Amino acid sequence: MVNGESVKYRMALFASGAGSNVQKIIDHFRAHTSIAVASIVCNNPNAGVIKIAQKENIPLLMIEKKKFQETGYVDKLVEAEIDLIVLAGFLWRVPAKLVHAFPQKIINIHPALLPNYGGKGMYGKAVHEAVMRSGDSESGITIHYVDEEYDHGNIILQKKCAVHPMDDATILAKRVQQLEHQYFAEAIEALLLEKES
Ligand code: GRF
Repeated sequence: MVNGESVKYRMALFASGAGSNVQKIIDHFRAHTSIAVASIVCNNPNAGVIKIAQKENIPLLMIEKKKFQETGYVDKLVEAEIDLIVLAGFLWRVPAKLVHAFPQKIINIHPALLPNYGGKGMYGKAVHEAVMRSGDSESGITIHYVDEEYDHGNIILQKKCAVHPMDDATILAKRVQQLEHQYFAEAIEALLLEKES
């Protein structure tokens, strides 16, 4: 978990599901000298990410909807000295309290090229089905800052992949996931280290 005295930036990873991105981020920063995964925050008692937290020995915070909406669990995150919140497959809207407590310090990954195919209900297969229906020839990932609207804040990075007419949502989801796994952790590192220069 936290890599010791030299750590300058402590991340909290928020996830609702399988956690494949969480795992990639943990692997990327495992031996990092200045950035560490300090906490995993989860809203879903059946999420695969819970096992990841246990296996990796990373503190896990299970959250509850009403309290999240009312408090954003800001006190817990401040207490854990979190510098950056990373939404890695987290499905609840982030409440204003949390956005204001961590200005420009919450980022999300979305499995399409925003501003298209975002917003409430646009997650998982629904996103890729919408892209397929549109006839677009490209999809990809968007890493962006989080504000109070779903999939809305300023864009940090986009990476594209092709969409072929013979694809289906499952095939496209895999292609997009490869981009997530390839670029998300790197983008987080660049963002944090850029703040220093
Ligand atoms: C990813 O596609 C991410 O873009 C989206 O939720 C999915 C999470 O997948 N926001 P996983 O739980 O990291 O495997």
